[in-house]
Formats: sequence, structure tokens, C-alpha cells
Amino acid sequence: MAALRSTSRLMAASRPLFRPAVFSRSYATVDPIAGFTEATSQSTQPVSEKKSPTVKDPKPSENPRVKTFHIYRWNPDTPTEKPRMQSYTLDLNKTGPMMLDALIRIKNEIDPTLTFRRSCREGICGSCAMNIDGVNTLACLCRIPTETEKASRIYPLPHTYVVKDLVPDLTQFYKQYKSIKPYLQRDTKTEDGLENRQSPEDRRKLDGLYECILCACCSTSCPSYWWNSEEYLGPAILLQSYRWLADSRDERTAERKQALDNSMSVYRCHTILNCSRTCPKGLNPGKAIAEIKKMMAAI
Ligand code: SF4
Ligand code: SF4
Ligand code: FES
Repeated sequence: MAALRSTSRLMAASRPLFRPAVFSRSYATVDPIAGFTEATSQSTQPVSEKKSPTVKDPKPSENPRVKTFHIYRWNPDTPTEKPRMQSYTLDLNKTGPMMLDALIRIKNEIDPTLTFRRSCREGICGSCAMNIDGVNTLACLCRIPTETEKASRIYPLPHTYVVKDLVPDLTQFYKQYKSIKPYLQRDTKTEDGLENRQSPEDRRKLDGLYECILCACCSTSCPSYWWNSEEYLGPAILLQSYRWLADSRDERTAERKQALDNSMSVYRCHTILNCSRTCPKGLNPGKAIAEIKKMMAAI
């Protein structure tokens, strides 16, 4: 399995509060016996200062609009090497309008070793989540700023272990998602044996919750989650948790609340609201967490 590197960065996952100034990373190695990857130490260090030559657009147009992209690179095959920034230039006349278009063009036409996740290309799958110009967002929904004088900087989601380049390891995130039992739980059958219906009013309570695509932009912008991700569930998983607490068809509300009734799962949220500012789907995980706290107060 690939070695992982943490991008623990005190950086701007949400532009108004943080600036990408300090970088704190975990080194990681593959355990040769167990075969899994684990962090062995943590340090606060910037990416390598070594400058690689800028890789240029091989097919610019006659009057090119040249834009530079600085992209985080780290290769698990050389785990002792620091991560570095690689610069590429692209002619915007020959590139689609979104950051994902730029990444795909770089991969297809300039550097096939650049690694990132993507699938739907329309903000549905959540796999292209990354930190672009200081903000956690989806590359496919993020327009390339057209001012060419200013370069764009692209990193993996902050405070995640990195599988390679822009690919974060979301194992812990999905483990936490599984822990909240994200599915309908009920024993009572409907009288007519058909599906479990709910009133339009109850259905509306799920608006702003069911749209979450689990991209992890919010959780990885949350300082509480950075420091307590082993125990604090973080905004994405808590929004999902509230989605089931708020569902009138579910019959395990008491058990769900019980599972959250400890000092870490919910109460590490200090209402900083980076999560709600950064959500590329315009959702409000901070509000969902506040609703959970209200429900918990009624335990
Ligand atoms: S709440 Fe928004 S940012 Fe968080 S995981 Fe869901 S879609 Fe992504
Ligand atoms: S409101 Fe809570 S979950 Fe959202 S960023 Fe702040 S501490 Fe994290
Ligand atoms: S590629 Fe699916 S959300 Fe961006």
C-alpha cells in the first residue's frame, strides 16, 4: 500500500480566517509486517524549496493567455523526499473554464504523472475536492481566475494524509461515516405494506441535508477536526448524522442521540463556521450541528 503524507496545514481552508502560512506534516511509512501505512512522526515544515523548471503548455495559441498553476506533488515511491510544488503554464485559450479542466489538460497533454481524483465533472461525486487558492472546494465547480498575472496554487485537502499528489486518504472519514449508521432504521411496517412515506412538511426538513455529497471540504476546513479527527466526527459526518435524526421515518432517534452523547463526537464544535463558509454545495453543516446540540439538550 502506498505510503501516506499528511498535509496538516494551518492554511486557508476558508479564506476569511486563515492564510497559508504554516505547514505541518506527518511523515509516514509502510509497516513491512502489517502491510499498512502509519505516520511515524510529525513536523512543521514547508514544501521543498527546490525549484523544478516550469513545465510549459506545448501547444499555445497565436495570442496565448498564459496562466501559471503551482501544484503540490508528493510521490509515495520516494517517501523520504519532501513534497514539492511543480509549476505548469497553460494557455487559457486552449483550456476549459474550470480548474478541473486545467488539471485534466496538464495530465493529458503535459505530465501524465500528475495524480488527482475526479469522476462526474459536475459537482455530484465529490471526488475532486482539493484546496485551490486557499479554499477547499471542488475543482470541477471552481472557475479558473482569468487574470493571468496571478498564479493559482493547488493543494490536497488540508490535514489529510496524502496517497499521492492531490489525492487525500479518506479512510478515517468513511469509517466515521459508517459509524453513524447512515441508513433508515425502523421495525414498524406500514399498514399497506408499501414504502415508508412522510408528509411534504417532514420531507422538507431534509432539504439542505440530503444534498451533501461527502466531499469532505467542510471537515478538512474545521480546526476542531484537524486536531481531534480520531474522536470528533466533524461537520460532514454530523450533517449526515442530523439528516437521519431529522428523518420522521427513522425509529432509532434515541439510540442515535445516545451514540453522540459524549464530550467528543459533537461538542468539539466551537461554532467557528469554517465548514459552512467553505461548502461548495452551499450547505450549512454548522447549523445542522447546532440542531443536533438542541436535540441533545432534550435527551
Ligand atoms: S456539507 Fe458540503 S462540504 Fe461538507 S461534505 Fe457535504 S457537500 Fe461537502
Ligand atoms: S462550526 Fe463546528 S464543525 Fe464547523 S468549522 Fe466550526 S468547529 Fe468545525
Ligand atoms: S468530479 Fe465529481 S464533484 Fe468534481
